[in-house]
Amino acid sequence: MSTINYNETIPNNVNLSEDKTLQRALEHWQPNYLNWWRDMGPNGSLNHDVYLRTAINVTPEGWAHFGHVKMPEYRWGIFLAQAEENRKINFGESKGRDAWQDVPGEHRANLRRIIVTQGDTEPASVEQQRHLGLTAPSQYDLRNLFQINVEEGRHLWAMVYLLHKYFGRDGREEAEALLQRNSGDQDKPRILEAFNEETPDWLAFYMFTYFTDRDGKFQLNALAESGFDPLSRTCRFMLTEEAHHMFVGESGISRVIQRTCEVMRTFGIEDPEQVRAKGVIDLPTIQRYLNFHFSVTIDLFGADQSSNAANFYTSGLKGRYEETKRDDDHLLKGQSYRILEVAGGSLVEREVPMLNALNEVLRDDFIRDSVAGVGRWNRVIEKAGINFRLSTPHKAFNRHIGGFANMRISPEGQVISEAEWLSKVRHWLPSEEDRAYVASLMGRVIEPGKMANWIAPPPVGINRQPIDFEYVRFN
Ligand SMILES: [Fe+2]
Ligand SMILES: [Fe+2]
Repeated sequence: MSTINYNETIPNNVNLSEDKTLQRALEHWQPNYLNWWRDMGPNGSLNHDVYLRTAINVTPEGWAHFGHVKMPEYRWGIFLAQAEENRKINFGESKGRDAWQDVPGEHRANLRRIIVTQGDTEPASVEQQRHLGLTAPSQYDLRNLFQINVEEGRHLWAMVYLLHKYFGRDGREEAEALLQRNSGDQDKPRILEAFNEETPDWLAFYMFTYFTDRDGKFQLNALAESGFDPLSRTCRFMLTEEAHHMFVGESGISRVIQRTCEVMRTFGIEDPEQVRAKGVIDLPTIQRYLNFHFSVTIDLFGADQSSNAANFYTSGLKGRYEETKRDDDHLLKGQSYRILEVAGGSLVEREVPMLNALNEVLRDDFIRDSVAGVGRWNRVIEKAGINFRLSTPHKAFNRHIGGFANMRISPEGQVISEAEWLSKVRHWLPSEEDRAYVASLMGRVIEPGKMANWIAPPPVGINRQPIDFEYVRFN
């Protein structure tokens, strides 16, 4: 069933009305979710009419319907990608058997943990971004922020559905707890560290959606391979929404770079102080933000060696990125993978069992994918004839999880002393002063078609609307 039933309190394509107990449980959770949205969702936005897309159908063609809606009235619901007939488990010790339509008892605890950890990131990012609407550089950008926020809200719905349907009372308790933890909260923080960081300004927002939403892409792809079919189908549909989030990040940074380069060229300036004096963001500051978001995000993949990762794979719960496109035995026993570690004052490779290194495998896939976009940003700089290139830092730089935690490693991958780190860190990571400067540029621009001075307009609007379309009506 690909079409979504919008006649019910909770839109869905899972025949929710046939399971009254589940329907009642979710209808009981719904007002708590809406309260969370009012308290922790986008600040000051409840009355805005926002030009949003809503899913009407889960097939790849034309699932999106666009129109102005007030966000609290957005039709959050439960949408699973279409079932694949006779789908099998494609890896691990149950490889070749039918995919599970219910939770196998022996994997219940691990699956619940996987779903809760994924689910926790979704509302966390809405909380992290809740003040950004007050400083949006244009209506177009404001609309994109809100689109991402409502979809992250829907991703929470996706995980809550799985918890309610397949995990009984424990699942219902976990679903409540997902609304009780809050990003950055002293007593009840979100589970993963990167989701407790603030997203204080729009440069950080674009970096977050480029890098951290891409972590989402890789985690969801790995879970889309799961032998637990409802999780796979949920993640496959979530991925269609995730693409837009990364687009907002990539194109946002690209527009910031374009504007900076225009100003540098017009005035023939290169010195960051002179560039700042013109009210745009100098390229070294963009590099420092990139370093920060890249390093914080790759921590999300977890320790480089992990017995949990091996377990999740062997038991068929979480695959690799594009598992079925790889031509190996999908068991990985006896295979090895090269990880890096510090020995004798430098980074050296070491072969370890691949099953234990699956976090690192996924992290390396992520790194390859994110480097590609950085290349596209560099072409904007190159085209402007400016002699500067952005790059992703070495994967050992500024890590807080895994073997490099608390080691001092430069963006080029040199093991360095604490003293050297301290003397150079302000060139590598955003300083208080960088953040204060970027914050000083943030002011709300609400006139249709107008852009803040520090960012170029997008080449095209949303859904083929003009750039000066009224994407948000403030009422
Ligand atoms: Fe998400
Ligand atoms: Fe996302």
